[in-house]
Amino acid sequence: MKKISPSMMCVEIDKLKEYLKIFEDEGIEYLHIDIMDGEYVPNYTLGTDYVKQLRKLTDIPLDVHLMINNPERKIEWFDFQEGEYAAVHPESTQHLQKALQTIKAAGAKAMVAINPATRVESLRYVLDDMDGLLVMTVNPGFAGQRAIPQAIRKIEDCRNYLNAEGYSNIEIEVDGNVSYELAGEMSKRHADIFVAGTSSFLCGLEQVQPGIRKMRSII
Ligand code: DX5
Ligand code: ZN
Repeated sequence: MKKISPSMMCVEIDKLKEYLKIFEDEGIEYLHIDIMDGEYVPNYTLGTDYVKQLRKLTDIPLDVHLMINNPERKIEWFDFQEGEYAAVHPESTQHLQKALQTIKAAGAKAMVAINPATRVESLRYVLDDMDGLLVMTVNPGFAGQRAIPQAIRKIEDCRNYLNAEGYSNIEIEVDGNVSYELAGEMSKRHADIFVAGTSSFLCGLEQVQPGIRKMRSII
């Protein structure tokens, strides 16, 4: 079953409750939360107080994408709930395995996020510690970018590699320019979770409900 994870940095803040109502009615599986520290990536977005407030408004599990240096030191700031995902970038830590173990110890599912230039094979010795793999199809930091074609093709390489190593259980999430035009190919290349942003239905409240249905029909 394919899943959709809307990117909350693309949601109009004054209409947050209306968006959440639609997400719940449409059975949205995750909410994608981009956390940036202005160092690992050149931008700031959402933070721990936002996450705390959001949890009071909805029970949809969070899918927290940590684009921050030394994430293993900050996992406990997020009060992760069972069934939620935390994703870390290998380049952001000197201790990737420890970061993944810290996520699991906090009760969440552990995901590794790889940039367009990063090889999935470099994760060989942490596959046992992973529940998910986040394949970035843009360089992280900003919404509204164009997808990098090789990174879309890499989704399939990742699936093949994970299966060949005996990890068909690891889910693949795709993030960056997941548009109606590209989502079909991303799905055929075996992405399981689709981060939806400004490229699809997060471009005005009236687009959201029909856009979610359109996205489901494509993936
Ligand atoms: C990048 C972000 C985005 C974004 C998705 O770090 O995770 O990919 O919110 O939005 P669009 O659809 O604009 O790429
Ligand atoms: Zn993201």
